[in-house]
Parts: sequence; C-alpha cells; structure tokens
Amino acid sequence: MSELKTLPRDDFIIAQDWSAYSAEEHGIWRTLFHRQEEILRERACPEFLAGLVGLGVAADGIPDFRRLNALLGAATGWTIVAVPGLVPDDVFFAHLANRRFPATRFIRRADQLDYLQEPDIFHDVYGHVPMLMNPIFADYMQAYGQGGLKALGLGSLHRLARLYWYTVEFGLIRSPSGIRIYGSGIVSSKGESIYCLESPVPNRLGFDLLRIMRTEYRIDDFQESYFVIDDFDQLFAATQPDFTPYYAELQTMSDLTPGTILPSDVVLHRGKTTP
Ligand code: PHE
Ligand code: FE
Repeated sequence: MSELKTLPRDDFIIAQDWSAYSAEEHGIWRTLFHRQEEILRERACPEFLAGLVGLGVAADGIPDFRRLNALLGAATGWTIVAVPGLVPDDVFFAHLANRRFPATRFIRRADQLDYLQEPDIFHDVYGHVPMLMNPIFADYMQAYGQGGLKALGLGSLHRLARLYWYTVEFGLIRSPSGIRIYGSGIVSSKGESIYCLESPVPNRLGFDLLRIMRTEYRIDDFQESYFVIDDFDQLFAATQPDFTPYYAELQTMSDLTPGTILPSDVVLHRGKTTP
C-alpha cells in the first residue's frame, strides 16, 4: 500500500455562477466601469490600461471568469478563481503561488458605489486582474504568494502585508507623463484615484522596501503616504532576495506611523495637512 497522503486543504474555490447575476448587478458594474474609464485614462499607468484593453470583455457587464480566464491564461498563465470572501492567509498565498487569483463574486449595491469596506468583484477583478496581464507583475504576484507562505512560518506576515498594501493595493509609478496609478485599491475607487495624485495632503515618497515594511497603514481612510516605484523591474528586482535577513533586521527597528517622513526618504511630494 502506498504511503498515507495528507489530504489537500480546502481551497475555498466555489463556482462563480455567472448566469445568476441580475440585470441590475450588471448595470452596477457598467456604471463603475465607465466612471473609472474616464478618470483613469490620464491617471492609471500604461500597463494597467493595456491590461484592461486586453480583457476587453470586461466592459460589457460583470465578466464571466471563464471568458476572462481564456484571455488571462493565454497572456500570463494566471487563472481567476471565485471564493466566498476573504480566505485564510495560507490559502490565499497558496493560490497566488500557483498563479490563481482568488476573487469574490458579489458586487456592491447601487447605494455603495463610492465606498465599500470589503472587497467585491469590482475591486478584485477590475482592480487586480488587468495588472495580472503584465508579465513582470504576474511574476511579482506569484513570488509574493511564495513569500507569504515563508513569512507565515517566520512570524513576519505583518511586514510582508505592508509591502502588498503599499504596492499591489496602493502603489504609484513614475511614467513619462508624470506619476501614475497601478494599485488596485486606488483604481477601483473614484475618490482615491483623484486624491492620490492631485491632493496636496498625502506624502508621495520613493519606493524603499525595508522602509515600507516598517510602515503601518490605514484601512479606514485614504492613505497618508503613497510609495512611488520607478518601474516594475525595480519592484521585481528589489523583492527577489530572500527576506529572512530583512525580517531579522526589522525586528530591531521601530514601526513608523503612516504619515512619517524620514531624512532618508526620497520626497516627491511632502504632504500638507488640510487647513
Ligand atoms: N523574495 C521574498 C522572500 O524571500 C518573496 C517575495 C517576492 C515577497 C516578491 C514579496 C514579493 O520572502
Ligand atoms: Fe485587493
């Protein structure tokens, strides 16, 4: 008899059940989509906009994951899988490490267009999936999943989570036409898409890996500081090394509040508090 195999963990995958969406729900998607289309034309980075074009079927209404997956799989080998909501950390990281992106299937209500606490399908799919069409970013997300499993074992997940927050969710990037957005938490929010670039209030600081992993973040309001990468190669290269010694070094350093500016920061914009 073959040796006893550990049973696979529950992967939390459910069917999207695309045919169950109502006309009203498709309408909410289209409203959000067209609103962001206008706002992001001059604000999102070219890679995000190209990903959106590549996933053209996303304009029609709530996309069917089967149709998106045909396009996404051909581009970078990623697959979107439906999950019921937030999943345990180890499950989330294992999906990413296998190039599967867990996405919720519910959409916000018509009276929640501007703000929603938990991620819905507009955030997960419109916000995240276009960047997964980009080969470098696609590799970054997979590496993040592998790094997440490691960080869990090292008790340093809170550090790595800050990197995700300030890059994948709220990242900005330089471009020939000025600073642009790539973070999913921003591109799926009308208010923050404008605020992060145009408001004088938040800091805009150069990307610095260890500095980011020391920095706390806000989950209940627009960010006080955004970190700006030069390009995706910089982000990918900076995160290639083994983080084990970084986590050890960070143990000896204090955490920073979200609005802190250090003498060593590259300050692209020093935030002003509102008068
Ligand atoms: N290189 C990181 C580690 O060893 C993993 C990682 C890659 C983390 C990319 C984030 C992003 O932990
Ligand atoms: Fe997200």
